[in-house]
Amino acid sequence: MTQTTSSGEGLGETTYAELREIAARYPEARSGLLPMLHLVQSVEGRITPEGIEACADILDISAADVSGVATFYTMYKRKPVGDYHVGVCTNTLCAVMGGDEIFSRLKDHLDVGNDETTDRRPGDRASVTLEHLECNAACDYAPVMMVNWEFMDNMTPSSATQLVDDLRAGAEVHSTRGPRVVTWREAARGLAGFPDGLADEGPSAGPPSLVGLGIARERGWTAPVAPREHHQDPGLDRADPARAVPQGRGQEMAAAQESDDSVVESAMVEEKSGTTTTAAEKGDAS
Ligand code: FES
Repeated sequence: MTQTTSSGEGLGETTYAELREIAARYPEARSGLLPMLHLVQSVEGRITPEGIEACADILDISAADVSGVATFYTMYKRKPVGDYHVGVCTNTLCAVMGGDEIFSRLKDHLDVGNDETTDRRPGDRASVTLEHLECNAACDYAPVMMVNWEFMDNMTPSSATQLVDDLRAGAEVHSTRGPRVVTWREAARGLAGFPDGLADEGPSAGPPSLVGLGIARERGWTAPVAPREHHQDPGLDRADPARAVPQGRGQEMAAAQESDDSVVESAMVEEKSGTTTTAAEKGDAS
């Protein structure tokens, strides 16, 4: 097992200790495999054979098991990724809204194909890996791009080329939803569960995503109560949906409803004002 340095040649002792730390978070250690693989990527920029062996050893599973997971999920890369992974959604809705055109423009602009990384030109401070992505579940902001898994909403070919130019030049770039974009390796470390302090940046949901919820609220629509056989909680009473909320959970659900309402209210204020300032922030300011 390679275990040399943490500077690109082997994972290093610190990383092995952190991999064990992740595994220890879970009642079943193998539940930690996904964040462990993200940690490997944060150190080596991709999933390496050593990373696979390390995860397998720590979790006491086979390398084939680990490899099967690493090759199934598209967030894990077997080839080195540049400083910034730039994804363009070319699934149906984004494609027709301009995603295909954006992807085509970026391939020409960067002179790379799908899943390829730019060379560093004189003056470049970062490299970019371009990849077309399947639906990012952000269709209401189509066409959508992602940089190291941060959303870039309502993109155009010109905003896309400006974005990659800024990334290569080393400029500070923010998601259209607010958070500062970090490097591929930094983002991978965050996904491994090591806080980067950015978790609370940006809104949890924007106005277009909440339109349906707002309509439901206006019309008094609610989700049907699930039948009892879908619950494991013996405190539920199927005969009387009103009593389907076990004691003690009613307050939690009321709080959740209140929270939903405040999110919708915030989003509506944002939409009216045309800014990203939330209602709470406006309240604070007034
Ligand atoms: S089709 Fe692009 S986010 Fe859904």
